[in-house]
Amino acid sequence: MNAAFVPPWKGPRDLPPAWSTTETFPYRYPFEIERWVSLRSGQRVLVRVARPGDLDGYQRIFDALAPGDIRSRFMGIVARLPQSEVRRLEDVNYSREIILVASALDSEGRPDLVGINSGLIDPQRSSVEFGLVVRSDYKGLGLGRILLQGLIHCARLRGLAEVRAEVLRGNHPMMALMRSLGFRCPDDVDDGDEEQFDDEDVSFVLHLMPPKGDG
Ligand SMILES: CC(C)(COP(=O)(O)OP(=O)(O)OC[C@H]1O[C@@H](n2cnc3c(N)ncnc32)[C@H](O)[C@@H]1OP(=O)(O)O)[C@@H](O)C(=O)NCCC(=O)NCCS
Repeated sequence: MNAAFVPPWKGPRDLPPAWSTTETFPYRYPFEIERWVSLRSGQRVLVRVARPGDLDGYQRIFDALAPGDIRSRFMGIVARLPQSEVRRLEDVNYSREIILVASALDSEGRPDLVGINSGLIDPQRSSVEFGLVVRSDYKGLGLGRILLQGLIHCARLRGLAEVRAEVLRGNHPMMALMRSLGFRCPDDVDDGDEEQFDDEDVSFVLHLMPPKGDG
């Protein structure tokens, strides 16, 4: 059975909404997103929205990435965690970002990040574009799926119309994951041609609401 990001969360009823479509600031930390999930291995991880102190954990994930994974995530070989990512984690803006992290307990019982899905909402507040990465030793356990399902769940809560990502054509695991969740590639990638254009990036989109004028 696949691991899953399972709604619903039941909490106090009188809380103000964490995320609204109004321009009210500041947004509070959306803790109702937090949940423990079981991976295929039986390990449990806590999925939650990022907090400023998560930068060190993100750095440790980055430091352990294979060059191919760095290229897949950041669309090129970068020697350091990009400054844009550092700034986002230093000062998480809950009105513009949906950043989900997965935290597991290490061998000494300390929490450590094992995956992160950073979503940036566009200025029109209609779509969120994400970049997802799972620590190498946690791959293949269902965590990537959980972090993407979680981001889609949050995008729906925020009333966004689309979830988007840029992916290298050669990134077959990521493309398979997105297609299985209903993402489509407007460029209509032909699997037969993928080897030829591995370095090219393509856009995938998931429509959460029917586009205007449809039907
Ligand atoms: C892509 C990535 C996030 C997947 O995370 P993961 O935790 O290993 O993925 P999951 O275990 O949740 O697998 C989800 C699906 O992805 C696909 N997938 C995962 N690994 C795969 C592989 N080695 N080969 C083919 N498909 C694979 C499958 O469709 C799988 O479906 P399943 O759940 O029915 O098995 C992870 O490999 C990663 O961090 N890669 C480097 C960074 C990257 O490519 N980011 C994407 C840029 S947006």
